[in-house]
Amino acid sequence: MAQPRVLVLFGGVSSEHSVSCLTAAGVLAAIDPERYQVVTVGITADGHWTPVDRVTVQAYGSVSGLPQVAPGPEALLFRDGPTVALATRRGDKLTDLTSVDVALPLLHGPFGEDGTVQGWFELLGLPYVGAGVLASAACTDKITTKRLLAQAGLPVGPSVGLDDWAWRHDREACLARVDQLRPPWFVKPSRGGSSVGISRVEQREDLAAAIAEARRWDPRVIVEQGVTGAREIECGVLIDRRLGPPTASLPGEIKLAQADRFYDFGLKYLSADGVDLMAPAALEPAQTTAVQELAVAACLALDVEGLARVDSFVKGAEIVINEVNTMPGFTAISLFPRLWGVSGVSYPELIARLLDEALSRPPGLR
Ligand SMILES: Nc1ncnc2c1ncn2[C@@H]1O[C@H](COP(=O)(O)OP(=O)(O)O)[C@@H](O)[C@H]1O
Ligand SMILES: [Mg+2]
Repeated sequence: MAQPRVLVLFGGVSSEHSVSCLTAAGVLAAIDPERYQVVTVGITADGHWTPVDRVTVQAYGSVSGLPQVAPGPEALLFRDGPTVALATRRGDKLTDLTSVDVALPLLHGPFGEDGTVQGWFELLGLPYVGAGVLASAACTDKITTKRLLAQAGLPVGPSVGLDDWAWRHDREACLARVDQLRPPWFVKPSRGGSSVGISRVEQREDLAAAIAEARRWDPRVIVEQGVTGAREIECGVLIDRRLGPPTASLPGEIKLAQADRFYDFGLKYLSADGVDLMAPAALEPAQTTAVQELAVAACLALDVEGLARVDSFVKGAEIVINEVNTMPGFTAISLFPRLWGVSGVSYPELIARLLDEALSRPPGLR
């Protein structure tokens, strides 16, 4: 294909809307204009798809505060004979009709990274970057990720899943299950992201409030036994089935200045004071290899395609996997691209590899 037309999709209804906008700004600045034509569509925080011009997207990177997709005319994506078309609806007229060859969904969290948008692309027959429906759904849901990893014999920490029914019908039984885990506890929305809705709890009497907070974001809640004294290590993985098994980047590290703080939303996006993102992490060679092998094994167990960032806790020779992100933060200063940078794959090349892999996928069940 001479110059594939890429649909860059960003924003979305999840708590990670603004992060996704920043990712889109980073990707637009780096995508090779000689190789790809780009069309940009934002999803507003209430779920409307709307065209956003390139200049606006690139400016997201320099707005003060958190960028948002502004409301606008509806963008429509539909089957048009053998191709997939994108158009803008103005009243009862369709304008700016164009075909698209591949989608780059730069969406994080529910209704973006969780298989729903991926399912829409499958129905349209539109190739897309990243994990398929099942892997996207499994990796977004922390309860399911841990189940599948444990079943594959991979190390995960102890946790309990509290679904909506269980919590509403028998809180005491839920709390009794949590009592089996040592404090501190990490209480999380099972399908969250960017640390939104997560609490670190030390006292049993604070558990119910933390669960209520997590339930504001997701009726499925996971409570994990806190890992203490460990390093937070993250590893990039690229998966291209044409080339063989997944490949892992050098691992990186999230270094927090305060031992009792976790990597919360404020540290992630509001002020980087108090956190260092080390790329690569200073690890023993054996630790590096072990982290990389586990990251690859996790992607195979979860059947991830395209890309993932596998996050683990490392204490000496002991490693547990925390989570697998199928659309990790992807701005030029995010850890995922930086880790590939120090592993020999530049940011523009990374984007090109992902698009070319997506375009190479056969249609239908894979
Ligand atoms: N079991 C745990 N033990 C210790 N720290 C944790 C644990 N779970 C999460 N954290 C801390 O909370 C942060 C956010 O949790 P995480 O599961 O990665 O959620 P998110 O999907 O929002 O990134 C982690 O980066 C880490 O700092
Ligand atoms: Mg995380």
